[in-house]
Amino acid sequence: MDAAFQQCIDPDCNATFSIGEVHISCPTCAVAGKNSLLDIRYHWDQLEHTPKSFGLFERRWMTKGEQGSGTLDFSGVWRFRELMPFYRTEDDIVSIGEGRTNLQCANLLAGKIGFKPGNLYLQYEGLNPSGSFKDNGMAAAFTHARMVGAKCVACASTGNTSASLAMFASLSEMLGIVFIGSGKIAYGKLSQALDYGARTLQVQGDFDACLRRVRQITTENKELGIYLMNSVNPFRLEGQKAIMYRVLEAMDWQPPDWIVVPGGNLGNCSAFGKAFTELKELGLISRIPRLAVIQAAGANPLYQLFTEQGVRWDDGRPDTSKIDALYNKMNAESYHANTIASAIEIGRPVNLVKSLRALDLMDGVVREVDDQTILEHKAMVGRYGFGCEPASAASVAGAHMLIDEGILSPSDRVVCILTGHELKDPDATVKYHTGIDVKAIQDQAPRSTPHGQLANEPIAVPDDLDAIIKAIGATP
Ligand code: F0G
Repeated sequence: MDAAFQQCIDPDCNATFSIGEVHISCPTCAVAGKNSLLDIRYHWDQLEHTPKSFGLFERRWMTKGEQGSGTLDFSGVWRFRELMPFYRTEDDIVSIGEGRTNLQCANLLAGKIGFKPGNLYLQYEGLNPSGSFKDNGMAAAFTHARMVGAKCVACASTGNTSASLAMFASLSEMLGIVFIGSGKIAYGKLSQALDYGARTLQVQGDFDACLRRVRQITTENKELGIYLMNSVNPFRLEGQKAIMYRVLEAMDWQPPDWIVVPGGNLGNCSAFGKAFTELKELGLISRIPRLAVIQAAGANPLYQLFTEQGVRWDDGRPDTSKIDALYNKMNAESYHANTIASAIEIGRPVNLVKSLRALDLMDGVVREVDDQTILEHKAMVGRYGFGCEPASAASVAGAHMLIDEGILSPSDRVVCILTGHELKDPDATVKYHTGIDVKAIQDQAPRSTPHGQLANEPIAVPDDLDAIIKAIGATP
């Protein structure tokens, strides 16, 4: 058995696969008609460089950017590479300088929402190269894509995954294909996918429809040779663990009391749970923070299942009948998620079961916040911090709600993850401050023919498999 391998998370299956294989769900469970997620696992005792303390990372942090410290130590993901050792050699690793982000002690904001000074922290993942936390996971998933020889990569996205994929694809000289719901994406993010040169399919449908199609294309149309970059890809989550390593690093390796994170496709919170499980396994920490996942009220399946209906991880056997019933109800009612926080406008999150595992480990809670509350907290992060996009502010709104409920105490040390940059969605900010709906004006404005040698227009396609494959135009 290799020291690193893939494993089905279903305890009744536990099938393992080598790192060199490409799966987005467990092939063994698929035979039984089940759709189970995979984890990347390690036999830590068989690895040559298993960390015994945080000292190694500390030294890399102190020398980062200095001559001789190297690209990998400069990366806020790969300076923790011994904690995600699925690559064969360091030459496999893809890095574009991701993860050099900031933990801000937000005293002004703390005072406004009921925390004692020194206790509220904001982790600014918007400071990544493409402006969101997605770069952490893409660094790892592109590393795997390169290891398996992928030439063409794809994702469905509410915007940030597509921006990050597009940037990594162009720098890795791969073809990037992004599926976005038509009219569903903030222009800052659309502009990135176009500018970085991704083939951008604007599918008539929402994120859930896009994800269904891109999964079909990567699993049922394998001859197209397209590698899937959504967070069902377990390698993505390996990179996203690094957000927690950096939070710990900035807090002198003392875990905070709470991590508060917005929840959409639920990859981030799942990755955080995995990070803490492994740090505990390795004996590097003795205490695990609690987790709060905050959803928008207009896109709240985890809130409905976990908080309202009491669905739990249950040692890997959650009550799937309740999950199925919710999705069947959504189908019957033609429900589509709807929130101003377009990044988390997701009705059927792919990492739902992994998020239940993280909530179990981290003694978590799930809350929903409405759009106006999100916007008010976004404005507060703007006024009293570096700003963030609407979805990110759900974390601060959630922390505020939990302090009002008495679940968080003013003296708890709390870290809110700000997942995306303020400038990702300036229209939402302008509308909040002026009432002007810039996007509506833009959509109605007459369009001229695009010009410029690198003009890269989005391709409008119906939600139809053949039409999508034709639009992709990828040669097998
Ligand atoms: N915040 C931002 C800014 C996001 O872009 C996303 C997800 C989330 C939070 C939710 O994170 O999915 O790990 O629970 N955006 C994805 C995208 C879905 O396509 O860009 P999650």
